[in-house]
Amino acid sequence: MKVFINKNIPEAGILLLQEKGIDLTINPTENVLSRNEFIQICQQNDALLNVGANNLDEDFFEQCPNIKGIALFSVGFDSVNIPSANSRKIPVGNTPDVLNRATSDLAFLLMQSVARKSFFNHKKIIDGKWESFNALENLGQELYGKTLGIFGLGRIGFEMAKKCKAAFGMNIIYHNRSHNVSAEKELDAQFVNFETLLAQSDVLSIHANFSEENKELFNKYTFAKMKSNAIFINTARGKFHNEADLFYALTNDIIWGAGLDVTNPEPMKQDNPLISLPNCCILPHIGSATYEARNGMAVCAAQNIIALSENKKMPFCVNDEVYI
Ligand code: DGY
Repeated sequence: MKVFINKNIPEAGILLLQEKGIDLTINPTENVLSRNEFIQICQQNDALLNVGANNLDEDFFEQCPNIKGIALFSVGFDSVNIPSANSRKIPVGNTPDVLNRATSDLAFLLMQSVARKSFFNHKKIIDGKWESFNALENLGQELYGKTLGIFGLGRIGFEMAKKCKAAFGMNIIYHNRSHNVSAEKELDAQFVNFETLLAQSDVLSIHANFSEENKELFNKYTFAKMKSNAIFINTARGKFHNEADLFYALTNDIIWGAGLDVTNPEPMKQDNPLISLPNCCILPHIGSATYEARNGMAVCAAQNIIALSENKKMPFCVNDEVYI
């Protein structure tokens, strides 16, 4: 089987694939391929191990009829048009669990960074603006006993909630499609409706899979319903929030701060006004960027490809229905 890997991945995954004698074409450059280049190479392969946010839409599937399976190097699968894959019986695999710790660690880091305005204060040092001690300046807020609201309490959200409870004794509320029974039992998490999540969260952190129905769910109307001390954390997908509305909320005391690992578009432009706000901390989509998580992701993606090559069900398949 011929597999295209559009950007290099950790060796752990490559070795597994090579041991199985799978014929690999790895994009040797760090350059992002143009859409045309990408499609052309995919047309010559049986499967794609996709790294990054290529849009695998209906047009992609139409143009690449040889593709028999897709292994994503991500847990999120919003870049794939699943109905298009389903109609062609193409399995799509992702990399769940292995990045739960890394991504929730980053959400936790952003939460604290925002609470203590740490990026802004760090920048002051870089800019030569470290001034003498002032009892009334640089004040942040403490998180002890506050309420963490999780939008989408799955595996990553669960890890975030666990950390917040252990470190700060935070109360956990969450809004999901369905109840998370383990979180309710182990963390005393309370299921609430969306309006209550907005109204009661001191920290609101998104950990849901993105789907179009949630596009810009966090906007001027929803920010307006949040507490004025609230910290908004997005480590999921940039499309969950409306950026102009977030800017307005942050500069008009509607909410207190925001921590983003994801933006829309990515990369964010260097002159984006959010970057210089004292109450906003932004990172360049590095939630899963630890050696441990990335090695785990490489292994999961390789296991998905290997299963495909052996005509078996992918172990981490997001569209099981193709096997019926
Ligand atoms: C994921 O795994 O979905 C991360 O956001 C990287 O894309």
